[in-house]
Amino acid sequence: MVLLAAAMLPCTGGALIKVGGKPGWALNVNYTDWATHRHFYVGDWLYFVFDKRYYTVLEVNETNYEQCRDSEFIKNITRGGRDVFNLTESRDYYFLSSGGYCFHGMKLAIHVNNQLPPIYPPPSKNNVINDASPQSNG
Ligand SMILES: *[C@@H]1O[C@H](CO)[C@@H](O)[C@H](O)[C@H]1NC(C)=O
Ligand SMILES: *[C@@H]1O[C@H](CO)[C@@H](O)[C@H](O)[C@H]1NC(C)=O
Ligand SMILES: *[C@@H]1O[C@H](CO)[C@@H](O)[C@H](O)[C@H]1NC(C)=O
Ligand SMILES: *[C@@H]1O[C@H](CO)[C@@H](O)[C@H](O)[C@H]1NC(C)=O
Repeated sequence: MVLLAAAMLPCTGGALIKVGGKPGWALNVNYTDWATHRHFYVGDWLYFVFDKRYYTVLEVNETNYEQCRDSEFIKNITRGGRDVFNLTESRDYYFLSSGGYCFHGMKLAIHVNNQLPPIYPPPSKNNVINDASPQSNG
């Protein structure tokens, strides 16, 4: 089921982005650092993989993200521990784990942009400007 869903999702235009990379949604991952190296677009999906015995995924607002407050969340995304979240709007999204784990870094803030039109020219070697060549001081 999960494999089928994962295989079908790209057809709808969105990317399936596994939060945190290999370790997933867990302790000892710097999600701020992780998110700064990524782009998120409307139509993409976040894929949270975690141990549901300990962790949860809650969508919260900015204030509650900053303060790690899990009582007034927007949406509880927690289901089976392999849970997806639809990024439907161009805005900031905030997530955290309840159970105190937010204070240990299980919090994620991302900015979602509108999808770029799919007319991106592929990078061509001929367009690369090689300005790293050593200067000859003759
Ligand atoms: C996480 O990464 C960000 C950006 O690289 C850095 O500013 C921050 O200090 C890191 N946080 C921790 C707890 O290491
Ligand atoms: C977030 O929600 C809390 C509680 O509902 C509220 O007090 C706070 O003002 C909200 N913050 C933002 C940025 O909307
Ligand atoms: C979120 O949902 C999960 C699974 O249904 C549940 O175990 C958990 O207690 C919920 N968390 C909150 C804060 O409501
Ligand atoms: C995801 O969001 C888009 C845009 O709002 C919507 O068309 C689509 O039905 C949603 N998919 C699911 C599975 O909720």
